[in-house]
Amino acid sequence: MNNSNLLLRSIESTKTMTTEQETNGVIVGDGEDEILSPSDLSEMLAEGTKEAHDRAENCQFVKDFLRGHIPRELFKRGTAALYFVYLAMEEEIEKNKDHPQVAPIYFPAELHRCEALARDLEYFYGAEWQIQISLSACTKPYVDRIHNVGAQDPALLVAHAYTRYMGDLSGGQILKKVAQRALKLPSSGEGLNFYQFEGIHGHSGFKRLYRSRMNEIELDTDTKRKIVEESNRAFGFNMMVFTELEEIGKKIPEQAQEEAFGHGHAEIMQGEDINKCPYYVAKMATSGNPTYVCQFAKALLQHLPSQVVLAAWIALFAGFTAWYLR
Ligand code: HEM
Repeated sequence: MNNSNLLLRSIESTKTMTTEQETNGVIVGDGEDEILSPSDLSEMLAEGTKEAHDRAENCQFVKDFLRGHIPRELFKRGTAALYFVYLAMEEEIEKNKDHPQVAPIYFPAELHRCEALARDLEYFYGAEWQIQISLSACTKPYVDRIHNVGAQDPALLVAHAYTRYMGDLSGGQILKKVAQRALKLPSSGEGLNFYQFEGIHGHSGFKRLYRSRMNEIELDTDTKRKIVEESNRAFGFNMMVFTELEEIGKKIPEQAQEEAFGHGHAEIMQGEDINKCPYYVAKMATSGNPTYVCQFAKALLQHLPSQVVLAAWIALFAGFTAWYLR
């Protein structure tokens, strides 16, 4: 391999592994240098889906989620959508687990999420969760595509697995923390099993292993390009689901939104007057409520640095007026 073609992945400070070890049933990676070429599938995927990733990270639903604006109802529906997606994906991966282009990325014990999602749904919807959830209009084309790919072109399952599992092991971990805080979910992890990969010790090491396994798959350049294209398609399907959730969010009654958006302010401020919370008051003031506009002004005046800034402005204004009228 031409040296100028080699890339050393520098995203992570500890350099990479190409082999794996199993410790107590948990996969960990060792620390050899990972030498990558731009024609490696992992590099083609990372490069070829950059824009799609940026779009996904910056869509309104994800931005709101990251700010903790995730009503419980929406989180439940999002979990249900994921359940249908993983059900389809893991069913197809299972059917194709001996396929030479799927076998290297077959990690059921470490990655598969269906059971974890079922536990989360039981937590949110109760024992009858299965009859309470349904496949949404925007999740259906995603699920149909996964089944289609599994039956017609199993190599493309690599794209679907990459898009979801690598994302779950990366940004998903941020979402877990946000959801736990915003929805006040128990620290025991109930409702968040999806984000908890019990069989993986060290997400970065596992992601390196996964990349090296993707690179081991025997693929011609054309098929690699098709996998990148399919991954972009998978990002697109995820965006469709987010947009659908965002639309549903707009219809959720304000009361329910308030409970979730305010980080359960009423609960946080237990025994205290919620109107004393400057963030709550500022939020209500910006919504145009006159009571809160006055209260917000009062709160500002009680705030020492604000008083100093205000006094400076008044002095400046008085000085300017005096100079002007001279
Ligand atoms: C909440 C918004 C998101 C954040 C903050 C986020 C963050 C990140 C970060 C920090 C990485 C780099 C991890 C690394 O190099 O090891 C990453 C990688 C990745 N993310 Fe996201 N992400 C978000 C949303 C998504 C979504 C919605 C998807 C797809 C459904 C996704 C799919 C991926 C994939 C496939 C990778 C692996 C890239 C590679 O190394 O090849 N992410 N994400």
